[in-house]
Amino acid sequence: MDVNRRQFLTYLGAGTAALVSLTTGIPALASGESISGKTADHLFGLDTAKRKKFTPKFHPIKPTNKDDVVLPDGFRYDVIAVYGDKINAAGDTFGFNADFTCFLPIEGKNDHGLLWVNHEYLGELEYYVTGYDNLNADPKNNQRTAEQIRNYLYALGGSVIEVKKENGRWQLVSNSPYGRRVTGLTKHVMTGPAASVIKEVTGTFANCSGGVTMWNTILSCEENFQSVVEECKLPDETHYGWVIEVDPFDPKSTPKKHTALGRFSHENTAMVIASTGQLVVYMGDDANDQYVYKYVSKGKYDPKAGKGNSKLLEEGTLYVANFGKGQWIALDLATNEALQKAVGKENKPLFQSQADVLINCREAAKTVGATPMDRPEDVEVHPIDGSIFISMTNNAKHGNFYGHIVRLFERDNNHAAEEFSFEIFATGGPQSGFAAPDNLAFDSAGNLWVVTDISSASMNSGIYKTFGNNGVFYIPTSGSNKGEAYQFASAPVGAEMTGPWFTPDETTLFLSVQHPGENLKAYDQPTSHWPKGGNAVALPGVIAITGFQA
Ligand code: FEO
Ligand code: CA
Ligand code: CA
Ligand code: CA
Repeated sequence: MDVNRRQFLTYLGAGTAALVSLTTGIPALASGESISGKTADHLFGLDTAKRKKFTPKFHPIKPTNKDDVVLPDGFRYDVIAVYGDKINAAGDTFGFNADFTCFLPIEGKNDHGLLWVNHEYLGELEYYVTGYDNLNADPKNNQRTAEQIRNYLYALGGSVIEVKKENGRWQLVSNSPYGRRVTGLTKHVMTGPAASVIKEVTGTFANCSGGVTMWNTILSCEENFQSVVEECKLPDETHYGWVIEVDPFDPKSTPKKHTALGRFSHENTAMVIASTGQLVVYMGDDANDQYVYKYVSKGKYDPKAGKGNSKLLEEGTLYVANFGKGQWIALDLATNEALQKAVGKENKPLFQSQADVLINCREAAKTVGATPMDRPEDVEVHPIDGSIFISMTNNAKHGNFYGHIVRLFERDNNHAAEEFSFEIFATGGPQSGFAAPDNLAFDSAGNLWVVTDISSASMNSGIYKTFGNNGVFYIPTSGSNKGEAYQFASAPVGAEMTGPWFTPDETTLFLSVQHPGENLKAYDQPTSHWPKGGNAVALPGVIAITGFQA
């Protein structure tokens, strides 16, 4: 039993009038620079020197099944964009099921910038987008018309939107010259070793989480692409399951798919510079018994090269983790005997080229003895001590219904190292108050912000009843409350909140509200009416939460 947390909640529940600061500080390292002077991907914009004492003061909320974004007293949210909103003069519209968000300031401002937002999937809510009754359709009898498929693919991918805070309210600039859609219909160029096999592809979709690069571009991750390929009758699934790079500041740029980062159900990227100067990207593959990967560039990061550093994502080594041995294993056909010796049908070599290895990463990882994990979703690098946090959402097959968060330490704190140790930083369950940890974000004081992803089918029932709707939790990583979870927000019915991202001054937290109203029985009986209320059909979108004290 977690006496510490229970006492804390009891204290707050007793109706104390005083706001309680949950921040504990990071005494061991707070006075120095962050690790290698570099920070976690979402913190590239944060001024950690000024903001190290970030103190998010709030009364934790209780679990609830209310059909709204519920926040602690003193906080409010603005709905910035929902599905279908116009985002540019040409009339492009905001996509469905918003996920990862990333705020890129314009001229260094904290109240004006571009917001990249991923659009992941349609699922049973497809009817509201294409008119196709995916709730009752026989999956073996795909009746989608060409027009429905076009609308389906247009609703996925990502959006660049211009956002501004005026009179204290965040809003969308609906005729922005930056407003742009990258969709399931957009041309992409391929880079890296598999580009010799796959030269050009149409479309990105299943864009789940992602990251930002040090040169101000976005990495967006293609996760559960398989169902989209099937439902949209696409010819070649090897075109999907990659990490894409988009330059939000150049609306005419062609997005790239970086094959050196491998092909699997990519959840996220977390970029950091190793003490060797190499660029390192940590990545999860969100499925039962899949793996944790990291990419280490061959070349070194050069701040003067700006966007030229994108080349670092084209040549390097992709590693996969063996947790039992504390080793990163290179998925390199030239040096790995297991890969060289693996045979498939008719005794033919399973991997004939490095392109084969990268296109079939899951198979390669299994071949080299990587450790099957419990749905590794988001990965983030601690902004002060450089340790790596990985959320394992859950894995019913392993009896891990509530999930946990792993903290990994690279040997000698070198992110390019081939050895590591790890600990379990926090575990989900009624004792901790959270379940199914998904996206992670750090604030500049090193506190972890965690969103949860209890599936809409399990939410508010059975062993998940106690947790209410999905939520946002705050977990200090040091001090007396280390590892304790405090609930900061609760999502509307059926939804999960995804893509937490702070403005550089940490006065605004952006979040997506994904799939409100999912797990419904009939399309004319929506289970959520967020954000419009009344009898309206729920709309996924992105919000800005304010109320953090400077
Ligand atoms: Fe798209 Fe792994 O959540
Ligand atoms: Ca996710
Ligand atoms: Ca993240
Ligand atoms: Ca998830």
